[in-house]
Amino acid sequence: MATLSKRSCLKFLLHLAQDNLDFRLPEIKALLAVRGKPFHPDENFKEKSPFWCLDGLCEDDVRAIMARSVCAKSAFELWGHGETHSDLQTSLLNYPLENMSPFMHKDSTYRINVYTFNKTLEFTDRIKRIDALEYLPFEGTVSLKRAQHIFCLLEDYGTDPNNIPDNPYYVYFGRWIADGQRELIRSHSVKNRHFIGNTSMDAGLSFIMANHAKVKENDVVFDPFVGTGSLLVACSHFGAYVCGIDIDYNTIHGRGRSSRKNQKWRGPDENIRANLRQYGTEKMYLDVMVSDASKSVWRNAALFDAIITDPPYGIRESTRRTGSHKDIPRPPDAIYLESHVPVSLAYHLNDIFTDLLNFSAHHLVMGGRLVYWLPVYRPEYSEEMVPLHPCLQLVSNCEQTLSSHTARRLITMEKIKEPQEFDSLAHLADSRFRPYQGHNAFREKYFSGLNKRCGKEDNKSDVNGE
Ligand SMILES: C[S@@+](CC[C@H](N)C(=O)[O-])C[C@H]1O[C@@H](n2cnc3c(N)ncnc32)[C@H](O)[C@@H]1O
Repeated sequence: MATLSKRSCLKFLLHLAQDNLDFRLPEIKALLAVRGKPFHPDENFKEKSPFWCLDGLCEDDVRAIMARSVCAKSAFELWGHGETHSDLQTSLLNYPLENMSPFMHKDSTYRINVYTFNKTLEFTDRIKRIDALEYLPFEGTVSLKRAQHIFCLLEDYGTDPNNIPDNPYYVYFGRWIADGQRELIRSHSVKNRHFIGNTSMDAGLSFIMANHAKVKENDVVFDPFVGTGSLLVACSHFGAYVCGIDIDYNTIHGRGRSSRKNQKWRGPDENIRANLRQYGTEKMYLDVMVSDASKSVWRNAALFDAIITDPPYGIRESTRRTGSHKDIPRPPDAIYLESHVPVSLAYHLNDIFTDLLNFSAHHLVMGGRLVYWLPVYRPEYSEEMVPLHPCLQLVSNCEQTLSSHTARRLITMEKIKEPQEFDSLAHLADSRFRPYQGHNAFREKYFSGLNKRCGKEDNKSDVNGE
């Protein structure tokens, strides 16, 4: 019997979920980067396909990816593949025996599953598919309930539900290794969360953001527009210490009107800490405070491993900052007024992103990541509109469509150098660095687009939430 250590030239097959297509590649790349591994797809790689074959990895790498990924459903050690079942047979019979034999010996138990993408097979057809694999040298005993090793035949019938071919476009056979973390989308759904608000971030997207940010155990993560802390929930699940700020006193203190249908006011323990407690990660909670993201309260030495946030777009929440245009007279004897800012100003989206990038350039560790959402008006969007910073490298830019005319883009940037005095965006004359300006009127465009272009229908689409 061959030992596991003699196995070589392994290829792995990822089966990915067909939602959030844009987010999958940056997620898998980021998770590989955490392990210092490059992304090496095979020559047939198609980004939108539900199946990706990867080279240059070991089983531990794949297990580590699957322990984090919410975009990947399952991973297999690929034993054979081809355009037809006959190609598959040739490919399987060429697969090194020493790679297979540790899982096929006579003392082992096994099971073979059949999975079809974009087609449903009758039970009898499934059995026929399994019987047709009799050329494989399985010596163990079949066990449907407690198999030591699970194998899978996967058939890909393309992505067009209106044009399903009789025969699959491609077939794969492999040994199942692990499932991804799709279950987190259900277990952490905001529908069952203790403390929620109008703009609480969807659980799946929160985990994707944490993955894009390469958040890992013992990191310190900061959210400057923390709201009800959905992003802190996701990051703490991956073992990071979390903190955040929000300008809204009621949100931070869990007071005021409830966002739940049948509840008028928030209960006594509806707050971010309680959310982490609900998922068993309270020990990762550092703190949250009422503060204005436009006026940093952090000392220069404060550093975060990741900054991950969902800034306000002004659709379901106001974009305000502290301050006043007016020259408010201050009584000379009222000392407290020095720090008291009585009114608020509009906080333009362009300034929000400029402040966020400048803050991240100063307060991220080298190699640390900023992950945030940028709202865009689709008819006017071009890639040049994404704000840049001399110290932050753009890693990925993924679209989530909200309606025919609006979208938000998940932007991931990585710190590549320490900022010098002239690196602050406010001081950079180069318009490449502040290209979002024309988009300040996103709110007006969002609503005018609703009425003019699409009618009431689009009102259902959601910004900043599920
Ligand atoms: C889109 S929400 C964030 C939602 C959050 N991710 C969650 O899951 O609940 C944006 C938040 O930014 C806050 N905000 C608006 N202006 C701010 C400012 N100047 N400084 C800090 N927070 C601000 C709002 O109060 C709101 O809670």
